[in-house]
Amino acid sequence: MERVYLDYNASTPLDPSVRDAIIPYLSTAFGNPSSSHWAGRPAREAVDQARCRVAALLGCLPEEVVFTSGGTEANNHALKGTFFANGAAGHFVASAVEHPAVVEPLRFLQSLGAEVSVVPVDRYGMIDPSDVAAAIRKNTLLVSVMHANNEVGTVQPIAEISDLCRAAGVMFHTDAAQSVGKIATRVDELGVDMLSMAAHKFYGPKGVGALYIRKGVRLEPLMHGAGHEAGRRAGTENVSLLVGLGQAADLAADLGPMDEVLRLREVFWARLRETFGENVVLNGHPELRLPNTLNVAFIGHVGGEILAAMPEVAATTGSACHSGTVDMSPVLRAMNTPEQIAAGTIRFSLGRLSSESDVEHVVSQLTHILTSRARA
Ligand SMILES: Cc1ncc(COP(=O)(O)O)c(C=O)c1O
Repeated sequence: MERVYLDYNASTPLDPSVRDAIIPYLSTAFGNPSSSHWAGRPAREAVDQARCRVAALLGCLPEEVVFTSGGTEANNHALKGTFFANGAAGHFVASAVEHPAVVEPLRFLQSLGAEVSVVPVDRYGMIDPSDVAAAIRKNTLLVSVMHANNEVGTVQPIAEISDLCRAAGVMFHTDAAQSVGKIATRVDELGVDMLSMAAHKFYGPKGVGALYIRKGVRLEPLMHGAGHEAGRRAGTENVSLLVGLGQAADLAADLGPMDEVLRLREVFWARLRETFGENVVLNGHPELRLPNTLNVAFIGHVGGEILAAMPEVAATTGSACHSGTVDMSPVLRAMNTPEQIAAGTIRFSLGRLSSESDVEHVVSQLTHILTSRARA
């Protein structure tokens, strides 16, 4: 059975050049980067080079990059680090479509006394910057709005939100786990104070990422110990994964391959529309959206059932259906998505290895599955 992978927003395959770069650091180059002898020096150089590569991708200084175990840790560091660096009191603003890696740390901080305001989105999942401005209070410490949504791909007006945060003297963090490698993520253009990234979303390894922290921003570390990462994250560096992150960052700097991904996504959407007409609808912003993301609903059908009928296709549903009730994803709920649309939602996310034959396979499977269901 032909297997089709259309879940690049969940994770991406490791690029062969990333794998090749990592391997020496899992064998001969085993030294501790903190050791000053012959075994430690190459490891230190590799960590330094990885930091420079991430900094080049983001357009920041190497010392503004702190390595993490991925997007979740980067978000936790930004949010908890801000809270604890400010006397464990204060107010946060976040959008209604944040990933659990932002929602849950904020819920935890609320249990410790933090105040949290959630800014709504429109039916495309888009935030209105004036709602952020209205939510900012005297004691607001930080605004956190994701760059691009993982489910529907909507890209937020980050530069506008940065401007208004700066004017209000409030720090601004963006979770860019989904945008790095897909659209431009230079921190000077975005204007953010902090930015989270995760290597496995851009052909790097799982379990490694980074938090950009603008020079001068004060954060309490999550990990206390020896002085690694300039005292911002204690623990011996995961040299091999950092080398993989650096190599993936180098690849991600070239957004050229995304033109083909976008073209293919548009072919996919056109084929779905010509096959299913008004019975297929798009979730997310029609234009201001990640170039690889196609979140669609098949009206009158259940996303989970469709995917179960084509197990060779890897994609994700937007809701779970239990005994006739629709358990909508918080993102679709925040967008006020009607139940019937949420129930039939599937997220297809394309990537560098996606092909026209992948698209044709899925369209032909969908045609078969949906017409036989309609007849049944
Ligand atoms: C928007 C967003 N933020 C954070 C994360 C978490 O990243 P990680 O899996 O590297 O912890 C993800 C991953 O699904 C994501 O899509």
